[in-house]
Amino acid sequence: MKRIGVLTSGGDAPGMNAAIRAVTKTAIHHGLGVVGIRYGFAGLVTGDFVPLTAEDVDHKINLGGTFLYSARYPEFAQKEVQEKAVAELKKNDIDAIIVIGGDGSYHGALALTRLGINSIGLPGTIDNDIPYTEYTIGYDSACTTAMDAIDRIRDTASSHHRVFVVNVMGRECGDIAIRVGLATGADAIVIPEHSYDIKEIAKTLKRNFANGKDNGIVILAEGVMDAADFRTELLKYGDFDARANVLGHMQRGGSPTVVDRVNATKMGHYAVDLLLDGKGGLAVGVENGKLTTHDILDLFDEKHHSDFSLLDINEEMTK
Ligand code: F6P
Repeated sequence: MKRIGVLTSGGDAPGMNAAIRAVTKTAIHHGLGVVGIRYGFAGLVTGDFVPLTAEDVDHKINLGGTFLYSARYPEFAQKEVQEKAVAELKKNDIDAIIVIGGDGSYHGALALTRLGINSIGLPGTIDNDIPYTEYTIGYDSACTTAMDAIDRIRDTASSHHRVFVVNVMGRECGDIAIRVGLATGADAIVIPEHSYDIKEIAKTLKRNFANGKDNGIVILAEGVMDAADFRTELLKYGDFDARANVLGHMQRGGSPTVVDRVNATKMGHYAVDLLLDGKGGLAVGVENGKLTTHDILDLFDEKHHSDFSLLDINEEMTK
């Protein structure tokens, strides 16, 4: 192996740049050439490649987004598109690649490995929804950004004795909602994986106001419902004032937290080591605080396991 490629795919996440930097620096340390593939799998097919030096990745660890750009590219599921990508890689003497992205990206990484290009997947998504890992690159930063925003929302909520229903990201996974809800002392956390009783939520908010609390916060994962619709429903059962707020894509931006920088660096470093060992078709994760690998194929039969026990802790906190 002489030259490796690195790409970011799917929704961007803070810490992706830190991972690209770690891959680049580690590869150079081992005497390998490094190529950045721009626009994810789409750039792989069109040969949108840029050589990366150690200097190119200096001062990138602190930057949000991905300087290699990202794209969602469902066309990569087609065999002829994959073969075109392999031809581009071979033409450019790229022997193996590291893919940083969400679960969609793992299908691409596995396909490439099967076509003879060893590929390693790193979990890069704010959603924290990937199997066999308790952590994904960007999750901590997104939670921190959402927490900071909700702290501000609470200031105005308190001043007016209002309830705020706040949408956080997470279409199918409630991990952002759970962690942010716990961190902001939410009165209720609503996630796509669990059913909810809106009457009960209204009851909790009313009880808390009656007990002297001057604000109410409901953290609602976007996959459940739009905050505005939830507010309309909620007001049928509560006599309080309420507003809706959607945090949206601001959660995907900004400088990565220390947790994301350090984990992205460890994962990028580890991924290069795996390629040097001749491995491919593997997904890197963090389990019980340690870096682990699993066959990408196994990920397709497994679900991400969220820590729902945090919801029970929050329940007790709201009493
Ligand atoms: O990257 C994950 C995510 O941010 C989800 O939380 C969200 O539902 C989705 O991406 C938004 O996607 P898009 O970038 O297409 O708006």
